Amino acid sequence: MRLDVVTIFPDYLAPLDLSLIGKARRDGILDVRVHDLRDFAHDRHRSVDDSPFGGGAGMVMTPGPWAAALDHVVASGPTEDAVVPHLVVPGPGGVPFTQALARRLAAEPWLAFACGRYEGIDERVYEHAQERMPVTVVSLGDYVLNGGEVAVLAMVEAVGRLLPGVVGNAESLVEESHEGGLLEYPVYTRPARWEDGGILREVPPVLLSGDHAAIAAWRHEQRVARTAARRPDLLPASATTGALEDLDVR
Ligand code: ADE
Repeated sequence: MRLDVVTIFPDYLAPLDLSLIGKARRDGILDVRVHDLRDFAHDRHRSVDDSPFGGGAGMVMTPGPWAAALDHVVASGPTEDAVVPHLVVPGPGGVPFTQALARRLAAEPWLAFACGRYEGIDERVYEHAQERMPVTVVSLGDYVLNGGEVAVLAMVEAVGRLLPGVVGNAESLVEESHEGGLLEYPVYTRPARWEDGGILREVPPVLLSGDHAAIAAWRHEQRVARTAARRPDLLPASATTGALEDLDVR
């Protein structure tokens, strides 16, 4: 999968060299290209922002450098067929980023990310982009970041780990939170009996029983109970009534 990121802070994307995403790049699974928006500004100060028409606080990113940067990304694609990237613009006003959206984006051959800063990007840039490629504004959640870069790190990690060969054990993708609509069950490792400064903390006995059916049933119960306690919005209304009150969910 090819990923292009346009930003005024290329260094912000340095973590994409680390861990499983860095390895996926070295393995040729991910082709990540980071572009400095200021390289597409043509004045002496390489400026990319100006004050908003109509007044108001802060600065707005000007259209010229953005159009040039996006055109550059599109033009750098494979020449033999008219492939264009799917452009993702992180922003608090976008559609929610979910595991389902991560899966849809993971099926794309080419994603481009446009990282806005300040009060946002001149709206005409979206028109320019939409005439050339599919565009989706995506929000990480109902809070405001200073710019799109941190959101891109999160989205690239969530999307990249779904690509074949990125996460070594494909099974670990199946039972995790948000797959199957439930949060993940609690996990434990050695020691089975942990002396924690005078308090003995033990692993739930069922996990030591060797009874695979009982373990699977316990884990499922835990997933449902955790989801009911922390994210009842994920459950159908019927699942949140009765039977769960006495389960110990932290
Ligand atoms: N940029 C600023 N806030 C954001 C958010 N909540 N999600 C994605 N990108 C953002």
